[in-house]
Amino acid sequence: MSRRNKLLKFAEILAFPNVFEVLGEYSPNPSLSGERGKPVEMKGNWNTNYFKNNNPITLELACGKGDYTIGLARMYPDRNFIGVDIKGNRIWRGAKTALEEKLDNVAFLRTRIEQIDHFFAKDEVSEIWITFPDPFLNKESRRLTALPFLKLYQKFLKMEGIVHLKTDSAELYEYTVEASLPNQDIFEMIYQNADIYKDKLILKELELKTFYEKKHLANGKKITYVQCKLR
Ligand SMILES: C[S@@+](CC[C@H](N)C(=O)[O-])C[C@H]1O[C@@H](n2cnc3c(N)ncnc32)[C@H](O)[C@@H]1O
Repeated sequence: MSRRNKLLKFAEILAFPNVFEVLGEYSPNPSLSGERGKPVEMKGNWNTNYFKNNNPITLELACGKGDYTIGLARMYPDRNFIGVDIKGNRIWRGAKTALEEKLDNVAFLRTRIEQIDHFFAKDEVSEIWITFPDPFLNKESRRLTALPFLKLYQKFLKMEGIVHLKTDSAELYEYTVEASLPNQDIFEMIYQNADIYKDKLILKELELKTFYEKKHLANGKKITYVQCKLR
């Protein structure tokens, strides 16, 4: 994408009512801005102030263009979905689709996931999808299923909340499955599959395909899936 195109999207996204952006990306006390840069306090307030209902909230982490956020929101109008990514030009796509389709059960949050506990209160989230995250094979601490990240999610995920990981990376898949064995006090493996499309899918949600998943499938890669429960 050209630099001009990116800048246009950054400008447009500022006026989107369904996008919230971090202020202070590397600050110990980041805050959020909403439509047209207005400061907002969303922690503990997503349902009251934005969705205006009491429906359960699902997060899509590393959402990119928000394919799961949008797909799940169409599938479950009585649930709320928030896509989270640091890249505004990617979030733009999902946010624009949500506005065009009037999906009022969708929001996007542009932040580093490392800071996410600043924006959700205890028990505010019911479920997490992590879709095709960068596997960071040379930097364990950045993997979104590394233990410190799971402990971060525990701060706002309801007890026994489900975390889904869908990835083309056999290494990230194996790393996540193996990490669960000595850490049963934190997370319990419910289901794992190293090649989901060779079997009957266990969830209709798995039929949704992200931008990156389509690329990996075109290159003949296997798609893996892990479902675990955080205690
Ligand atoms: C490979 S892309 C996958 C995007 C999308 N889920 C898909 O499947 O099409 C990984 C995404 O994770 C985002 N990402 C990686 N690390 C992140 C972090 N620590 N915080 C927020 N976003 C992150 C990147 O900006 C990128 O959009």
